[in-house]
Amino acid sequence: MDVYINGKLKPIEKACVSVLDRGFLFGDGVYEVIPVYAGHPFRLESHMARLERSLAETRIPNPLSDEEWRGVFDSLIAQCPDCDAGLYLQVTRGVAKRDHAFPENVRPTVFAMINPIKPVPEHVLEQGISAVIRDDVRWQRCDIKSVSLLGNVLMRQEAVEYDAMETILVRDGLVTEGSASNVFIVKSGEILTPPKDHHLLGGITRELVLELAQDHGLAVREAAIREQFLRAADEVWVTSSTKEVLPVTRIDDRAVGEGVPGPVWQTMRELYGRCKENLRQGIDPC
Ligand code: PDD
Repeated sequence: MDVYINGKLKPIEKACVSVLDRGFLFGDGVYEVIPVYAGHPFRLESHMARLERSLAETRIPNPLSDEEWRGVFDSLIAQCPDCDAGLYLQVTRGVAKRDHAFPENVRPTVFAMINPIKPVPEHVLEQGISAVIRDDVRWQRCDIKSVSLLGNVLMRQEAVEYDAMETILVRDGLVTEGSASNVFIVKSGEILTPPKDHHLLGGITRELVLELAQDHGLAVREAAIREQFLRAADEVWVTSSTKEVLPVTRIDDRAVGEGVPGPVWQTMRELYGRCKENLRQGIDPC
């Protein structure tokens, strides 16, 4: 499949950026991952608003107008018109002689691609996933969706090496998020997630889960979650645009609650599934 690079669609092997690109040298750029169901981008406005915010916080000018972005997405989706996919886009500060300070008169580099999303296998949804807990050693601006992901990469690898799927991060005794997801718990029927601040990314899926819970009369609250409270939760979920809402049934080899996906997760999964189905039919999703 072709990818988009600086105004052109090209086969992936032909798409190149300079070795002086600041994304390559400094991780000086931001990105988005937008789920697409049957060719329809999900929550596009929210993703574009978050992109705008990440760009503003890093002081990279948005190189494309809304219509131009839409054109890029349409040209990528056209290669896979009916599939469920993840649109990936990245904007870096551009190409310049290596110097930490911002260069003058550079054009941001724009890259985008589309990759089919494999559905999470049914047996994973039946059993839930395992997670490990680690100290959140990342920087203090995790609210920016930056391509500087070394901390997240190292943390995610911890999970892989312990045969788990996600690493849940704890800073000063409080849960922040997963290495590539947001975290929810259920305790005594109430859904809880840490409030947004600079220690976690404001996930679009997180926002949707909060909205669905509120709209359907589920007890839900944003609140700080201590590590011990996480370990004692009845249910734990992780959320992201590619993984949707996944139940965590083991943490560091101990069962979460009953050790199986819980009833509140089942309800949320149905609500989320309904949004997706509606979007697929081209009707107002949620
Ligand atoms: N990551 N927190 C982190 C650190 C993430 O990397 C992600 C998603 C999220 C969830 O955000 P959203 O619901 O908007 O996808 C939270 C994407 C999928 C990635 O890096 O591939």
